[in-house]
Parts: sequence; C-alpha cells; structure tokens
Amino acid sequence: MKTLNLKVSIAFFLMAALLNCSKDDTSSPEISTMLNIPFASTASNITDYSFQANWVLVSEADSYLIDVSEFSDFSTILNEYKGVAVQENTLVVTGLLPATNYYYRVSAKRGAEITSHSNVITVTTTGVMSEEPEDPTFLKVKANALANPFFVGVAVKSNQLTEGSSYNTVLKNEFSSITAEYEMKMDPISTGSGTYNWQASDKIVKYGNDNGINVHGHALVWHNAVPNWLSTFSGTDVEFALEVKKYITDVVTRYAGKVRSWDVVNEAVADNGDMRNTIFLQKMGANYIKDCYQWARDAANAAGDTDLLLFYNDYATSTNIPKQNKVFTIVDDLKASNLIDGVGFQMHNTYLSPTKMQIETDINRAVAKGLKVHVSELDIQVNQNNDITFLTEERNLAQKAKYKEIVKIYNALPAVNKYALTVWGFKDNESWIPYSTDLNHPGNDWPLLYNNKFELKSAHTGFLEGLD
Ligand code: GLA
Repeated sequence: MKTLNLKVSIAFFLMAALLNCSKDDTSSPEISTMLNIPFASTASNITDYSFQANWVLVSEADSYLIDVSEFSDFSTILNEYKGVAVQENTLVVTGLLPATNYYYRVSAKRGAEITSHSNVITVTTTGVMSEEPEDPTFLKVKANALANPFFVGVAVKSNQLTEGSSYNTVLKNEFSSITAEYEMKMDPISTGSGTYNWQASDKIVKYGNDNGINVHGHALVWHNAVPNWLSTFSGTDVEFALEVKKYITDVVTRYAGKVRSWDVVNEAVADNGDMRNTIFLQKMGANYIKDCYQWARDAANAAGDTDLLLFYNDYATSTNIPKQNKVFTIVDDLKASNLIDGVGFQMHNTYLSPTKMQIETDINRAVAKGLKVHVSELDIQVNQNNDITFLTEERNLAQKAKYKEIVKIYNALPAVNKYALTVWGFKDNESWIPYSTDLNHPGNDWPLLYNNKFELKSAHTGFLEGLD
C-alpha cells in the first residue's frame, strides 16, 4: 500500500513538473493557468497524539488549506484543523487521541483562488485508547450500580458509530442508551409514499442491539421533520392520514423488538399552550395524536412486540405552565385509552433555569400518573445571553451544579417511573445549541459533558455526583 502511494505520489509529482515545463515553454508568465489540486500523500511520524500530514507541492500555490476530521466524509471537522492555512507542504497535527482514525485533505490557494480538495488520506494514531477516562467512574457503571438503576443515554449520529472512533469508545464506556439525534425522524427515513431510506436508522439500531445498548426511537411524528413530498401532499385529508399511518406502521414494524421505546408525537403543543398548528393538526384534526399512538401500538402488537413503550416528548414544560397543562391534558387523554407509557421532558436547560422546584413539579405530574419519565434531550447552556467568550470557571461550576441537580432529581424517582436520562450529544463544539435558528441562541456555548477534545468537563463530575 505504501509503495503504491509512493508510486502515485511520484507520478503525480512528475505530472505536475511536466505541466510546469509546458507552461514555461509558452514564455507567457502573465497567462495564469488553473492551480492544480494538491495530491495528499501518506502521513509520517505517527504517534499516539499526533502525526505529520504531507502533500505534494503545487506550482504557484502560495499556501495550502488543510482539513482534519474523524470522519471520512468530513461531516465534522476538528475545530483546530478546519482549513488551516500553511505555506509548506507538510503540517504536524497535534492534540489527537490514541488509536483513533483521522482523515485529512488539502486544497491549494493562490490569492483568492482555492482548488477543490485533494484525495483523502487515512491515518490511525498509535497506542491504545484509554479504557478509562480520567475520572475513574463511568456514568453508566455508576447508574447501573444504583439500587434502582436507569439508562444513561446519549444522542448519536450514525457516522460516529464506527470502531476506532473516539465516540465509539466513550459511548461503550459511559452510556447504556442511544437516541438518534436526527436520523430516525420522518424526513430522513421517508423518501416518498411507501419508500424509505433505512441506511442510517438501521445502522444506529443495529449498533445498539449488537452492543447491548438500549435504543430509544425519536420521533415518529414531528412538525419540523416532515419530508417535502408529504408537506406538499396534494391528496385528500383522508389520504394524508393514510400516509402517516403507513409510515408509523412500517417504521414500528421494522424495528419491533429492536427499539424499546418511541417518541410517537414530538412537540404537539405551542408555546402559548394551544395545540401547535401543524400540518398533522390541519389535515387530520384534533384526534390526530391519539390516532398516531393507536397506529404505533397496533403495529407493535401485530409484530409481536407487546413491550414497546410509547412516549410523548416536549420542551420547556417546567417553566411554561400553560404548555405544561396542555401537555398533561394530551397525556391524560392518551392514558385513558392506555396508549402511553411515558413522558419525555427534553430539558434544553440553562445554568439558571428551570429551578429544581419547577423541574420536580413538572416531572411529578407524570410520576403521579404512573408513567415513565425520560429526561430525553438534556443539555445545559451557560451562555444564553452571550455574556462570556469562553467557558469561565464560574459558569463551569454553575453548570456542574445544574447537571448534578437534575441527575439527583431523576435518581430520586421511584423505580417504576425511571427509564432514561439522555444527554443531547457528546462534545460541546458539536452541540446543536449555538446553531439552532429555532432557539435563536446569540453566541457560542458549552452545554455538554465533554469539551471539544473529548476531555471530561466538570459537568461530567456533576453528573456523577448526582448519582451519589
Ligand atoms: C428538538 C427535537 C430534537 C432535536 C432538537 C435540536 O428538541 O426534539 O430531535 O432536533 O430539537 O437538536
């Protein structure tokens, strides 16, 4: 492989040289030719924490832009190595994790002209990924040892679930449940009437099943994930409802016995406490929620899965009382028909809000009805007013205290009401918070348990202390 790469490098180098010669032959240096796309060559000096990225010089380039990622599709690029400009044809990439796959690619730059990306080089750092993060206690290990244990969950993307990735290691060490961050919603799965793209959802479910990790399905019906073909549906309302029924039936059937629980309807209540005026409400009428739960239950039963847990999931119910009231009206209605097993409280919180009392009051309404409680999308913002430019020690500790508080509240629930406490992502820099247009978050934030380098934050210690 190395020899092949070397040969290719040499061939490319010769080609580049030839191109140069022929250009020189025209003796018209002012005629600008297109800049060649650089050729990335294999990495050298690979250690546990670094490697040297190399590429072949491009004639007339004044610099190169290099990207380094943990993903071969570069869907997320390491913050410190996002189009880093270098003059040389080499760069030492540092601050990495041992035994982890990285990918790099380069573009050449001359003035404002930037070429497309080069070929992609894969490099695996040496060493062994530490089986233990710095703190000797793993979240799930501690949660499993409780008198009344519960799942510790995390939101995942399918491209994180590969052997050799740092996500894979942290996930297996620390978490006992996964929720797809977006790949199990209707939009990515449903490509047309009765046609589906199962690629990512299958990968996530299989990963959970293969590794003994609980899989929570999220979410069958959500107004923000309606595929284009359905939002522009031109059939009758009855036909629309049949499409929704078919979708729910097909998805629940496919994952029967593999997914333990589903958020059937997500965020059906508006912030003013009215029913949210979604396409589902408009076309299917006020009974649409019940219909969806019935279809999910019927599909599971027909597939032999009589244990499937059905959840209703929503946000900001602890602070917004009209909304909370409306959610529990829906929940009561579903409960009366025996169509609901639990309530998902998203908990996209801040270091100031909601208060302990507000959270307890909200959650206790589900407990009083004998329902399971899922803290389903936990993250804790520390910069919701954009008044800090880095995570200050004061905010860091305030966040730690808030993580500890909610874990403590959750842990104090009666055993029958416990299900899972799920954190909405791994690393701060990959959280949805600063990028959300819905949330209108004004600046950067650090809402999760691990920093950009996957190091444990005080928030993680706070979570552990909440389990004491
Ligand atoms: C809502 C949804 C989640 C997710 C977040 C933003 O809370 O329920 O699935 O989309 O918004 O990441």
